[in-house]
Amino acid sequence: MHDGGPFRPGLEDVVVAESALSWVDGEGGRLVVRGHAIEALAPLGFEAVCGLLWDGLLPDPARAAALRRGIAAGRVAAFRALERVLPVLDAADAMDALRASVAALASAGEPPEATRFRLTGAMAVYAAAWHRRRAGLAPLAPDPERAHADDLLRMLRGRGPTPARARGLDAYLVTVAEHGMNASTFTARVVASTRSDAVSAIVAALGSLKGPLHGGAPGPVLDMLDAIGRAEAAPAWLRAELAAGRRIMGLGHRVYRVRDPRAAVLETALAELERAGERSRYLALARAVERAAVAALDERRPERRLRTNVEFYTAVLLDALGVPRDLFTPVFAAGRVAGWLAHVAEETAVARLIRPSLRYVGPPV
Ligand code: COA
Repeated sequence: MHDGGPFRPGLEDVVVAESALSWVDGEGGRLVVRGHAIEALAPLGFEAVCGLLWDGLLPDPARAAALRRGIAAGRVAAFRALERVLPVLDAADAMDALRASVAALASAGEPPEATRFRLTGAMAVYAAAWHRRRAGLAPLAPDPERAHADDLLRMLRGRGPTPARARGLDAYLVTVAEHGMNASTFTARVVASTRSDAVSAIVAALGSLKGPLHGGAPGPVLDMLDAIGRAEAAPAWLRAELAAGRRIMGLGHRVYRVRDPRAAVLETALAELERAGERSRYLALARAVERAAVAALDERRPERRLRTNVEFYTAVLLDALGVPRDLFTPVFAAGRVAGWLAHVAEETAVARLIRPSLRYVGPPV
């Protein structure tokens, strides 16, 4: 009644592609992007890491300047298309708005690099524009002189960020830019494998990222910290959640059996913010909740080793940078789009349709 090999629910451990883009070392707790440890990439800046992902090597100064200009031009082009996307930008949910407005972009007729710039620009511009309109304010035009992270925060908050905040968001965008065969990257690759266009692949990836098991977790992490309120309340609160069968947001991972290395990179960014005098209102509580959550999960599931994932400190960092919590996932997309686009290019070069099989368990003929 069925064809094909063994069935692995969730495709766990199934290799579905070869990629030169990144290695997620689940046992060693390392993330390597094109041969570079994530810790070393964080200070280099988002545009440089786009170059690494898209070109295959870190940019020299001339290429770095071209990437910065190109991505800035992408922001300007996305802002020019704003009138066209306004009818769908005012959705109640920020990810619905981002998905619909990116879907409204033209899909063909330009070199792949121009599309990459436009899509990267669009994530930042439409995420910020959604927030401004929701607050009854006019969206701000991009400033092409600024670096991408700096301009994203400026368009969002209405004024240029402090250098420490701009660096903090830059480190965040780099940290989440690329991460192996996660659900949204797989989605983008499936679409690219049909020889569809990059805009369609990115729209599909946005739909996948939205889910709370993937990119939708950081908002609920802050909701959890608010609900817990103070460190002493954490153990009982977490145990009650687990007893009720609910998952603790920001913990657990399909690949990592140790703490997600990106959590440490984000903690470093938070420490730098604190050194610059910008204290996070959640950091101390988050650290206590992390300890209590790991203890509670170890107690409940000693065999699985559920540890902190990237979303936990994403929530704390983005909050400290002044990003509203319903924009956490769109801002995640603003970083991850770099990786999606690199995977789209890689999959396009493979030119083999992704078409797995299923095991039929319906009624017999
Ligand atoms: N809290 C409580 N229980 C958890 C958990 C969490 N955060 N993460 C996993 N578990 C449980 C699962 O419910 C599962 O229990 P079951 O066997 O009784 O069904 C068991 O641990 C094994 O789960 P696992 O196979 O490791 O999870 P997964 O690979 O299917 O899912 C996540 C990985 C990330 C989806 C999962 O850990 C999760 O839902 N985490 C919370 C959401 C989150 O932070 N998402 C962001 C990911 S970067």
